Order: sequence, then structure tokens, then C-alpha cells
Amino acid sequence: MPLAQELEAVAIEIAREAGELARRRRGEGLAIAATKSALADIVTEADREVEVLIRTRLAERRPDDAFLGEESGAEPGTSGITWIVDPIDGTVNYAYGIPSYAVSIAAVEGDPVPGEWNALAGAVLNPVSGELFHAARGAGAWLDGERLAVNSEPMPAGALLGTGFGYNPATHAGDLAQVARVMTLARDVRRIGAASLDLAFVAAGRLDGYFERGLQPWDHAAGALLVTEAGGAITVTGAPDEHGRTLVVAAGPGLFERLLAVVLGT
Ligand code: IPD
Repeated sequence: MPLAQELEAVAIEIAREAGELARRRRGEGLAIAATKSALADIVTEADREVEVLIRTRLAERRPDDAFLGEESGAEPGTSGITWIVDPIDGTVNYAYGIPSYAVSIAAVEGDPVPGEWNALAGAVLNPVSGELFHAARGAGAWLDGERLAVNSEPMPAGALLGTGFGYNPATHAGDLAQVARVMTLARDVRRIGAASLDLAFVAAGRLDGYFERGLQPWDHAAGALLVTEAGGAITVTGAPDEHGRTLVVAAGPGLFERLLAVVLGT
């Protein structure tokens, strides 16, 4: 089996076990462990526990690979492959009981820096719906057994777009101005609350496009591969704003350049 597909199988198996743990812990109640970059940016005990599970399983299955996780940071490896992991993407949804959160696991080669790595495999699992989006480089993006394809062109009514807002209140005015510009292309906008699912939805044609500033590698590593393997285009290192936040824009080929230009206001 090609390496990318071997890594995809590992990501899928571990995402399923991790998703089951996240769902079970949510059923047992919620414990906020800490706040991070801002008061609104929370981490639950479950985020930490699920990341430990994923890290342990990866160390058992792929002991020579490096690791980069949202909650526990980085550990070097010797194989040239890094696993980039968000144990619970959409933690605020998870905390509020909104069933839109995901386990996101990606394997990349090269420096684990957005724009520099070469993504090999990824899995994004919503533990509540049970939907598992997965991809291996060169072998397509899939939702369970169905091959995914982005929408090549939005419908005449305009594009259905996803976005997200950072936790830092100082960035909200700029983000809202960006949304105002984008409305010229949009039939409507969704704020789902989990970037990995936004990107999976672009891959699945459930959204025509997606844009957000300030994402971290673990928010988009698996989702970006889903988009490109489904025939879409994505930038993950777009022009930084005055807060130093880079831009992620993803869409089908008929929309991507227009969406990027409108988001940037060029
Ligand atoms: C967050 C979600 C959210 C996005 C934020 C991310 P987290 O991830 O993906 O949709 O708007 O920028 O930080 O903190 O829930 O893992």
C-alpha cells in the first residue's frame, strides 16, 4: 500500500477511537480546564485527554514520526513525517453542546510550517454525526465511501460561504468589514465553529468557499488536504493583517480567485 494511504488508515483508526472518547466525555459532563489566548478561548479536560490518547496511539503505531498538537505542543521525530492534531476542533461548540466539533488528524512531510509542508493524509471526524472525511495525497477525498468533489461554480444566487472569527476582540471590526465585502459574492454566510469541518464542507460541496484569518496549523492541516483532493484550491499563508494573522481561503476553481480578491479588498 502507498505510504499516504497507510498513513490515512492510521489517521482514520485513531480518529475513530479519539472521537468516541470525546463523545463519551461530553456525555459525562464538561470541565473547562483553562483559558488560552483570550477569555473566550477555552480548553476542556476532554481536549487534553483526547490529545493524550491520539499522541499515545501515534507513538505506538509510528514511533519515528514527529508530533504537533494543539494542547501539548511539538515533539521531533526522525522519519520526516509530522502528525498535526487538533483533538477537539470547535471546543466552544463542544462546551455548549452544539454537535459541530471534530477530531482532526493530518500527516505531513517536510517542515511542519503552513505553506511548506506536503500533506500526505488526513482525517476529520465529527463524533456526533459519525461523519468521517478522509484523504490521502493523490487518492482523492472521501466521506465514508463517497468520493468528494468541490462545487466548480457557485449557483446564480451567489456563493454559500463559511467563515470564522478569532478570539481576540481587537480583530472583530476587521473581520466584520471583511464579511461586508464578501457579501457581494454571497447568497449567505455560515459560521459553523470548527474550521476543519468548514474545510471538509468545501470539499463535499456543502459550502462553495471558506475564509478565515488567524487559524493555527492543527485547525487546517487535514481540511486543506480534503479540499485539494476534492479538486479545490486553498491558500493557508495569505497576506498577514495588522494583527499578524495569516489568511486561509478555500473554494472551488470557479470561485477561488474572486473570493481571495474580495477578502483582501483588492
Ligand atoms: C477554533 C475553531 C473555530 C475557528 C477558530 C479556531 P478550536 O478551533 O476551528 O471555528 O474560528 O479560529 O481556533 O480552538 O476550537 O480548536
